Amino acid sequence: MTRRGFIIAIASFIASIFRGVGKSMGALIESPDLAVCKKIHTQGEVVIETTCCPPNRKKIVDFVFETPSRIRVRPAVQHMTVEHIEKYKEATRRMKALDKDDPRSFAQQANVHYAYCDDAYSEMGLPQMPLEVHKSWLFFPFHRWYLYFHEKILRSLIEDDDFVLPFWNYDDPSSMTLPSIFDEINSPLYDQLRNQDLCGSTKLINFRSYRDDPQPQLTDTEIIQNNLRVMRLQMVTNSKTTQQFFGGKYIVDRPRPNHTPGSLEMFPHNIVHSWVGSKSTPKGEDMGSFHTAARDPIFYVHHTNIDRLWGVWKDINCKNKDPDELEFLEASFLFYDEKAQLTRVTIKDCLNTSALGYRYDNVPIPWLDLDKTCAPTFINRRGSNNLRKVIFPLVLKSMESITIRRRMNNRSEVEKESREEVAIIDDIELDYEESVMFDVYINPSDADIRTDMSNFCSSFMNVPNGGRSIIDVKTRFVVGLTDLLDGIQADNDEYIVITLVPRKGNIKIGGLFIDFLDRHNF
Ligand code: C2O
Repeated sequence: MTRRGFIIAIASFIASIFRGVGKSMGALIESPDLAVCKKIHTQGEVVIETTCCPPNRKKIVDFVFETPSRIRVRPAVQHMTVEHIEKYKEATRRMKALDKDDPRSFAQQANVHYAYCDDAYSEMGLPQMPLEVHKSWLFFPFHRWYLYFHEKILRSLIEDDDFVLPFWNYDDPSSMTLPSIFDEINSPLYDQLRNQDLCGSTKLINFRSYRDDPQPQLTDTEIIQNNLRVMRLQMVTNSKTTQQFFGGKYIVDRPRPNHTPGSLEMFPHNIVHSWVGSKSTPKGEDMGSFHTAARDPIFYVHHTNIDRLWGVWKDINCKNKDPDELEFLEASFLFYDEKAQLTRVTIKDCLNTSALGYRYDNVPIPWLDLDKTCAPTFINRRGSNNLRKVIFPLVLKSMESITIRRRMNNRSEVEKESREEVAIIDDIELDYEESVMFDVYINPSDADIRTDMSNFCSSFMNVPNGGRSIIDVKTRFVVGLTDLLDGIQADNDEYIVITLVPRKGNIKIGGLFIDFLDRHNF
């Protein structure tokens, strides 16, 4: 029997369990019928298992909170004790040693992630849209629950009720390399399919660059400065509203499904995936592609950091809030728990980590105090209204500048507080099997196309899915303008120029416009 034959993955998605709620709700997403999952996928010579049909188990228990409740502290990897490291290795070793049919096994844990992000369920009640927990507001809560159960299983395998996962603190200069505990060849935390440049080295992850980009020679200090700037841009400048931070709603009732990734998901989340994945596998497996990412133990500490940063964002100022729409709160997922019981959880039960029994250790947040431009090089050119006209849809083959007349300039502080001015790059078409990236600038001259400039806004980036191509999904990319325009002293201007610079892959853009997003509502 092939390995594939053993594979079972365990996820299912039951979003709308709130029948009969008001008409502002999205369409009902039916629970997939586990009996019809049948997809098998191979990738030429490379042995990549991509079948992930879940066992058709009927018995599902509802999640209950632990009693009595207690709070465990997840530490940064660089602060783990020797004892904790040994326990982490031992728990992972035991998880890897479990029978592959066991839903608690490491292989099955990895498949859960795969099942939720490829289209194994496309024939299972979601005809219009593959089940996908990335590129929408499902991203944070799905991964939080996923880590919760992964950690609980590890805890039970070593019978240590205090055990916690650590986090990879790559938003701090002290931890921008591959943590060494993941880089010992015979350790259960090791994975062979990684970018070898990062292994055994002190090479820094560069949040501004694809790993196979021709690199301008940057010093470590410059890379660190860029990374911190990306953190500030994505966590503050591009995350003024709930919608920008979380990404869009998961919508299936449109004629054409839509993806809108959140800002932290895009960077550094996606770039860390792409950097850690191998350079010699077709789609950057393991970490560089969603279907294999969770086969690398480092996936879990990458995501604990993302989970931690969700909390950091909420604490940045008292105005940041999680979505409170019912479609969000009542969306639910299925996971196997430490007793191998299929457990139904809802998003509303994961919003408070204390109730889930953990918090993150307090570490410094070195990017938080950068100023509004947070760039070493200050540029404040004016946008003009006499550039040539760009016709959409636009195939982005080379740099394109689009002049936009703003709907409102010189807004009051009160107005800026309540609504964020954003540029929406809409109806982006790309191949979801490909790595894709483009950068966005405001009012640059050709010489300014450098990401250490104050007029660099953000980048769009896609991590390949790994399965078959998703058909006819369009994607939206939202860029926050308020702080940037203030930072380059262009807030009074009537016209701005938005410049798109392709970096990788094929991209077609359907439109570009300015809009105002409410701080909390979608
Ligand atoms: Cu589900 Cu980092 O991806």
